[in-house]
Amino acid sequence: MPKIVKLDPVNMDMAIKTNDNLLSGMLQNELNILRECGGRGKCATCHVFIKEGMDALSPISRREQRTLEVITTCRTNSRLACQARVLGEGVTVEIPGGMYLSQVDDVESLIGRRAQQSILHPIYGTILVEEGKLITRTMISQLQDTQGEVREFLANTERA
Ligand code: FES
Repeated sequence: MPKIVKLDPVNMDMAIKTNDNLLSGMLQNELNILRECGGRGKCATCHVFIKEGMDALSPISRREQRTLEVITTCRTNSRLACQARVLGEGVTVEIPGGMYLSQVDDVESLIGRRAQQSILHPIYGTILVEEGKLITRTMISQLQDTQGEVREFLANTERA
């Protein structure tokens, strides 16, 4: 039996199979959610806030807890969509604002433009470039370094 999960603030209902995780339900509904770590509970890109119905989701595992602890925008109602399985009705999910660095295809082409949305770190959720800020060459080289570090981090955790 599928469960209905609400998405805020877009006001959309999604049907998710009982015991499926929030992420798979969101992807089936064509929501563009990143999975930088491939759904292994090790990054910030599928971080969501549960506005209602936390008790209708599977409990937080130790790995999920560890990852949430390093996400700077984490709140008491944070979950990783790839880890939270839907067990009951009444869940409302909010997707945090901003764009993860890994969504920026060509970082260089951003020089001289203003950030349309805040650009966020894919592991920590930290704001790397604030919305509306003019993007400079120095920022781009920092962003490129960050992209390299993220790739390295994920490659290392793959082996772990
Ligand atoms: S996709 Fe990385 S934690 Fe969910």
